[in-house]
Amino acid sequence: MRRLVAATCLLLFLASAQAQGNLTDPNDQSTDDPTVSGQFNLLGVSYCVGVQLIAVPDSDLFFFMERPSTPHPDGNHYNAGLMNAATGKFVNVRTNLSMENCGHTYLENGTVAILAGHKPQSEYKEGRRGIQILDLEAKQLRSVGQLKFGHWLATATRLPNGMVTIMSDSPSPVGPTRKDAIKNPFYELWDPANPATTKLFQLDNNFVTKSKYFYYPRNFILPTGDMFVWSNVFGQIINPLTGAVVASLPSWSKIPEAKGMSTSYPFSGTAVMLPLKPADNYKVVEIMIFGGQWSWGWINTTAVGLSMRLKITCNDNGTYTIGSWQSEKMPSPRVSGSSVLLPNGQVLLINGAKRGLLGDAAAGGVAMLNEPNFWPVLYDPNAPAGRRYSTLGRSQIARLLHSTAGLTINGTVLVAGGDRSDRFWSPDTYSPSPTGFPEYRVEIFSPPFVYDTDNQPTILYAPTSIVHQDIMSIVYTAASDAAVVTSVVLVAPPSDTHTNNMHQRVVELEILGTDTDTNHAAAMDGSKTVTVRGPPNLNVAPAGPYMLFLVVGDTYGPGQWVYVTRS
Ligand SMILES: *[C@@H]1O[C@H](CO)[C@@H](O)[C@H](O)[C@H]1NC(C)=O
Ligand SMILES: *[C@@H]1O[C@H](CO)[C@@H](O)[C@H](O)[C@H]1NC(C)=O
Ligand SMILES: *[C@@H]1O[C@H](CO)[C@@H](O)[C@H](O)[C@H]1NC(C)=O
Ligand SMILES: *[C@@H]1O[C@H](CO)[C@@H](O)[C@H](O)[C@H]1NC(C)=O
Ligand SMILES: *[C@@H]1O[C@H](CO)[C@@H](O)[C@H](O)[C@H]1NC(C)=O
Ligand SMILES: *[C@@H]1O[C@H](CO)[C@@H](O)[C@H](O)[C@H]1NC(C)=O
Repeated sequence: MRRLVAATCLLLFLASAQAQGNLTDPNDQSTDDPTVSGQFNLLGVSYCVGVQLIAVPDSDLFFFMERPSTPHPDGNHYNAGLMNAATGKFVNVRTNLSMENCGHTYLENGTVAILAGHKPQSEYKEGRRGIQILDLEAKQLRSVGQLKFGHWLATATRLPNGMVTIMSDSPSPVGPTRKDAIKNPFYELWDPANPATTKLFQLDNNFVTKSKYFYYPRNFILPTGDMFVWSNVFGQIINPLTGAVVASLPSWSKIPEAKGMSTSYPFSGTAVMLPLKPADNYKVVEIMIFGGQWSWGWINTTAVGLSMRLKITCNDNGTYTIGSWQSEKMPSPRVSGSSVLLPNGQVLLINGAKRGLLGDAAAGGVAMLNEPNFWPVLYDPNAPAGRRYSTLGRSQIARLLHSTAGLTINGTVLVAGGDRSDRFWSPDTYSPSPTGFPEYRVEIFSPPFVYDTDNQPTILYAPTSIVHQDIMSIVYTAASDAAVVTSVVLVAPPSDTHTNNMHQRVVELEILGTDTDTNHAAAMDGSKTVTVRGPPNLNVAPAGPYMLFLVVGDTYGPGQWVYVTRS
């Protein structure tokens, strides 16, 4: 009987959240037309909250992890599970460890790896030293080793040599020597080929002190193999295999409008590395950080309404030419949002709030994030300055603390999570979480491009494994005769939590030729072919799982899973 009641309630949640198109944001220029403003649709209900998500290669699944939130919609209390982005069905996954605040990435064969986690919560044991891999068939996590220190709010980064760094500012009460409440300046290097333990490396003291916080640092592997490391207000380029500082990054503290802009927990902004491109020989890197909170911010302080963009050129003589941060005004302020770099190189900003701080309850139990930002925005890095941002259609669901987003294999965006979904305030209408504190409803946001069915390229044939420099042909069709592929991209699958997609990377491939004749041997009637060169090396595209997309102008079609392999 209770089951039945629960099931009925779920249907009601779904019905109550249909988009109503009530626009109260004065800056909102979105329309009800999905081909212009995109659209949210409810996908289903997860059993654990999507606090952390990572796409599972070769499938439509997203692996979710949460901090234990009860009661779950299915009456159980597994802290992990698999959400099917196509069907909305959810399956629980077993583990014994506390996993909130962990880092997640992939082995080169596509297996999901989970490093670090949380101190004991509910029935879950100390997880901060955990090293686990996802056994998809058995629906459980397998412990394969232990970190040397406990880490949480930790970024896991897969390196070109297949090893993984795990980095966070965390007291390490379960570590061998350091005491609680002492900053832990060590990051760890895990080799999946020898999984039992790790090697320790020391971070530069300037980074530890000047960043102030290095929870979930924004780490990107540069085309040189070095690692861009940014946290809050400070960053460096380091050699991830030694910890040595290779270059210092500029600060924005002297830029008047950006003074005080802070971007790491609890002031969380979100960062991307724009696509790496053959047109500049994969030598130019642009990093962007969107939003955050002012260093003086509290629960009602308006969030940062700026994005910052930095250009780094990798010189042939091994040095870097580093520009200065360029600020741009966003259509609305945003803290605790997620960024999704789309296959066409545009950035979708989604979730989060217009006020407050990423964190749990303030005094009196009220939320620390307020005025949910229901409006996703798009940033087109190639448009003229001042015309790069546009506002899209709104969601009815507040996604504040512990919300997530990730690109699906079909180019839509899975939107999940939120576990302080009560006791915030909002001037805008919305559909409250039917379950109060935790938000189990999962949405799909379809950006406007996926509605351009005329120009959308559909892959008929593409290789499923790609070797560096390899020349290969991809066969596709499009409804419109005029639709010819203008770019071919490898998108690293998403691994998102706490505003940080720690596996974010888009690599454009060099197009060697396009053939719109119908006489290609592999082609069906009416199909077209594009011939590309594989990525130049492991530094530009570390071996592992990717999603391959074809792009026509701004429109992209459904992707296909591929693996970049070592040889
Ligand atoms: C839209 O929101 C406003 C402000 O909350 C409310 O007064 C109005 O009734 C809503 N309109 C619709 C059509 O829901
Ligand atoms: C993507 O589209 C294909 C074909 O329609 C479908 O089989 C698949 O389930 C979809 N996956 C997702 C994640 O939407
Ligand atoms: C959890 O712990 C129990 C008891 O120690 C053990 O039998 C079980 O295999 C563990 N499960 C997982 C998924 O690690
Ligand atoms: C990937 O590698 C891991 C570690 O060697 C192994 O446990 C796992 O079974 C492999 N997965 C596949 C699909 O081969
Ligand atoms: C924050 O703003 C809300 C809504 O105006 C108000 O009720 C609350 O008292 C404010 N809290 C603080 C700490 O200023
Ligand atoms: C390296 O190359 C850059 C760009 O050409 C140049 O500005 C710089 O001076 C060179 N540095 C050294 C040490 O040669």
